[in-house]
Amino acid sequence: MQRKIYNSKKETAAAFAEFLMHRINRAETYHIALSGGSTPKMLFDLLATDYLDKIHWEKLYVYWGDERCVPPTSPESNYGMTKSHLLDFAPIPRDQVFRMQGELDPDVGAAEYAKVLRTNLKGSIPSFDLVILGMGDDGHTASIFPHQIDLWSKKGLCVVAEHPETRQKRVSITGEVINAGAEVVFLVTGDSKATKVGEIFNTIGAYQQYPACLVQPTSGKLTWFLDRDAAKELVLN
Ligand code: 6PG
Repeated sequence: MQRKIYNSKKETAAAFAEFLMHRINRAETYHIALSGGSTPKMLFDLLATDYLDKIHWEKLYVYWGDERCVPPTSPESNYGMTKSHLLDFAPIPRDQVFRMQGELDPDVGAAEYAKVLRTNLKGSIPSFDLVILGMGDDGHTASIFPHQIDLWSKKGLCVVAEHPETRQKRVSITGEVINAGAEVVFLVTGDSKATKVGEIFNTIGAYQQYPACLVQPTSGKLTWFLDRDAAKELVLN
């Protein structure tokens, strides 16, 4: 596991954009799972302005690690956010964009997406080239929340989860898909994340209750991109 700490959210997104560019450009094809959240939004804006001519977009295959069960036009849709901040600008072939269908019945949406992953990705457990994750203030990742941490290890590739407060249904990939990723990256910024980041890295407190601590790719390739605010409770050694 590696951790990289930057001065600001903007610098974190900028460093990650470089990381991503190198990986896409040197690959033949690159299958990536995106997440929702505020840091990816900043990243997408940067990619859609400064990287349009720098990335071989035609190599990219885009998926999501989680989606809210809303139509793609909803302001809450992770696909919708990605569309308006990145897909409307970057020349990614449209037939290489595989969204989770949040408008379907959640169980159907989860089953359909599992089929998409089985069809498109290699491996007995479908393996992304890169899984991008965020971490919520409560330690959730993708849409596996602490109160439903058992969903992490549920059989099958995709599950239906529920947001603890709004009860909004979500579709999420499971732990086995996340950990089968050839590479997994966390993008975590802001001081509201500091306590959980500190607990997870220092293995203290209630860290075992946070789904984010279960992210341990079998490839061993896990990188946390953090800003100073999110990293302020790390014991640096
Ligand atoms: C979602 C996300 C979720 C997100 C975290 C962090 O759809 O809600 O995929 O897991 O990554 O909540 O979000 P921020 O980057 O906004 O803190």
